[in-house]
Amino acid sequence: MEYKIYNQLPEEAKALRITVFVDEQGFQEEFDEADNGAVHIVAFDNGKPVATCRIVKDGIDNRIILGRICVSKELRGKSIGFEMLGYAAERIKEMGENEIYIHSQYQAKGFYEKCGYTAFGELEYEQDCPHIWMKKSI
Ligand SMILES: CC(C)(COP(=O)(O)OP(=O)(O)OC[C@H]1O[C@@H](n2cnc3c(N)ncnc32)[C@H](O)[C@@H]1OP(=O)(O)O)[C@@H](O)C(=O)NCCC(=O)NCCS
Repeated sequence: MEYKIYNQLPEEAKALRITVFVDEQGFQEEFDEADNGAVHIVAFDNGKPVATCRIVKDGIDNRIILGRICVSKELRGKSIGFEMLGYAAERIKEMGENEIYIHSQYQAKGFYEKCGYTAFGELEYEQDCPHIWMKKSI
């Protein structure tokens, strides 16, 4: 897998996120202000974009939030998500950070637990979808 890092939302990440979060999962407000200040990661398999995520530094309390994590539907269950999160954690560590937060869709909690994250706090609804905060020390 080849990873590329961008300081602006690249077309590859935009297309993957529309396919997964808008078309597949039905979210309406996929793109937001945080995309402008985020670091975007895209994973390429033989030149084809197959997964993406973004790293956002929260403007209020400086927490690092990893988000918009998705893998092409036909390639799920092959450890691509797990490996991309490992790659992202290494980059975040290089930024001098020691903790990562994720606002997880509740259905994905088990995936993040496999990646070493622990849930905390109450269930919350974002765009009608149940979410829970998770975090991991690095
Ligand atoms: C969630 C997602 C990113 C996982 O990526 P993936 O490449 O399919 O996951 P992996 O193959 O790396 O899975 C790693 C482990 O997590 C498990 N896992 C994956 N998705 C899971 C889920 N939704 N719930 C529980 N466990 C899950 C896998 O079984 C695997 O376990 P194993 O090591 O025991 O075999 C992917 O399913 C996806 O893009 N989903 C749609 C978008 C989405 O919901 N994103 C999350 C937004 S918060």
